[in-house]
Amino acid sequence: MFYFKQIEVDPTVSTELFNWSKENMQKNDQPFVLLDAEKFKKDCTSFMQWTKDNDLEVLLVVGIKVNPFNGQDATKVPHIDLMDDSRNIALNFPIENCDETYTKMYKLIEGDQIDIKLPDGTMYSRFSDDSKFEEVTTFYLNKPTFFNTSVPHQVYNDTDNNRLSLSIRFKKNPLV
Ligand SMILES: [Fe+2]
Repeated sequence: MFYFKQIEVDPTVSTELFNWSKENMQKNDQPFVLLDAEKFKKDCTSFMQWTKDNDLEVLLVVGIKVNPFNGQDATKVPHIDLMDDSRNIALNFPIENCDETYTKMYKLIEGDQIDIKLPDGTMYSRFSDDSKFEEVTTFYLNKPTFFNTSVPHQVYNDTDNNRLSLSIRFKKNPLV
């Protein structure tokens, strides 16, 4: 099972995405927001060159915000965010306060998966209240990270600050 893989990218690319996110990410406290992918593709020329070099095509760009101490209800429990099995690997970039926060990935041991189809065509799944999980791995988003969104996961923000990251989805899964 693929869980995650951290990668090195040129600092120019990371800086470009950081600056773009500062301008274009949600200012409200919605945890997951679909951002303007067309504007992203126009603005982020270094990243677009990187995708070309790596044979990837950008499909969706999602802003992820986790309030201090997991303030929003949706961030208090594990979830899955999945389009389909050929597009379940995201590339997540740290934007703000990611070094002190971490992501845990789980195996569902007991309980039911509840699938919710979102208006944008993507799928979001949560789990019944009686669910039990076994922790399989943990990572800190301190580098760009390919990440399997079809594995139940939860970000833990035990700090006083918002944790911001950018999640990029591709037309076809990257080879990892
Ligand atoms: Fe997620």
